[in-house]
Amino acid sequence: MSESRILVRHSGFVNLKRIVDARDGVLCIMEKDRDIPFEIKRVYYITNLDCMASLRGKHAHKKLQQIIFCISGSFILSLDDGVTKQDIYMHHDNQGVILGPELWHTMHDFSNGCVILVAASDYYDESDYIRDYDQFLAYIRQKQQEVRHDTSM
Ligand code: TYD
Repeated sequence: MSESRILVRHSGFVNLKRIVDARDGVLCIMEKDRDIPFEIKRVYYITNLDCMASLRGKHAHKKLQQIIFCISGSFILSLDDGVTKQDIYMHHDNQGVILGPELWHTMHDFSNGCVILVAASDYYDESDYIRDYDQFLAYIRQKQQEVRHDTSM
């Protein structure tokens, strides 16, 4: 399970400033422009993930950009850009992973008390989702053909 480098397209790590002082608690800070490479229009969080058998995500987005954080506990983030697949063990409260467009992602193997926080570049729009894996692969192929066509002109 690679953690040091992101191998899939349209992704990357985001490391937030993390402040620990003499008091109890850890303070992590996310700042517009300085940490997040898009304007945040929506933040959502997922709690009560106590079941190891749970599976979340299992979709890709056409345009939406997101950054996913595990702010408590741990889980495994599986990424798939249609060619390369990668599992990331999410357990640093200040390290997020960019979920760019056209990136199939699933979240699983949650620890007790796991809390996921996501910052998103746009409002919820079901028409931006691709929820079927075969449709995702077909969408990626079509996009790549469009890019090849554009660059050959
Ligand atoms: P979904 O994005 O599939 O959740 P996950 O990726 O965590 O598995 O969303 C689950 C349901 O919640 C779905 O019916 C859409 C709804 N939803 C909203 O209404 N607004 C939102 O911002 C999000 C993320 C989901």
